[in-house]
Amino acid sequence: MPALRPLHAPHDLTVEAATDTASTDRRGLFAAKRVAPSILSADFSRLGAQVEEVMAAGARIIHVDVMDGHFVPPITIGPLVAGSIADLVHDAGGAIDVHLMIERPGDHIEEFAKAGADNITFHAEATPHINRTLNAIRELGCMAGLAINPGTPISAVSESVNDADVFLCMTVNPGWGGQPFITDSPDKVRRMREIVGAGSIEVDGGIDPSTAGSVAKAGAGLFVAGSAVFSADDPGAAYTAIAEAAGAA
Ligand code: DX5
Ligand code: ZN
Repeated sequence: MPALRPLHAPHDLTVEAATDTASTDRRGLFAAKRVAPSILSADFSRLGAQVEEVMAAGARIIHVDVMDGHFVPPITIGPLVAGSIADLVHDAGGAIDVHLMIERPGDHIEEFAKAGADNITFHAEATPHINRTLNAIRELGCMAGLAINPGTPISAVSESVNDADVFLCMTVNPGWGGQPFITDSPDKVRRMREIVGAGSIEVDGGIDPSTAGSVAKAGAGLFVAGSAVFSADDPGAAYTAIAEAAGAA
């Protein structure tokens, strides 16, 4: 049996802390009101072109949904795909927002940091070591996000307010794009706003021009939209419509 690494031990592999101006700018994106297109609903045979299309319309945060077939039933994509678009996104002044819907998230954060993730969010339901994992993400030079499912009370994030940069309130049950927005979500976001202080609140699932306004009013600042953007005939125009509804860029 290999010895367990102590909680405070440094990582074997060093990933440079994000200190350059470009990465500071990228961090600033998460503090602004922003729509984040989720590539889960993109055409993967022309992924780069789809990302360019939404970035031309103003998108700067690209959301990458990682599913492992355990935490949620589907298997989607991993660090290889995140890394394949990272330069494209960064060169256009954007940021990569990784949403881990996986068990044992702590085992995979380093791979995503190396792939170019700017923010890495994992689920509170996926590990008993929430604050340790958040701190490990920050040690890798990334912003750290904590997500909760619709059935998880907001108290699940209350002891991590100073350890996380982004708080993700799922507005559908995770696992699939194209599900309907859970209508109780604005109330949950409002209650979350009261406990997370200055942290960014992200909403994810069923976000479109008809739902974005309600969660924006409740205190959300980051609006993930997959099918409403990439299933539209014109993803750029769809992006703009959601941004207008949310009062976001
Ligand atoms: C769902 C994912 C979402 C998904 C949202 O589990 O976390 O990011 O892409 O898709 P839409 O916007 O279609 O609900
Ligand atoms: Zn997501």
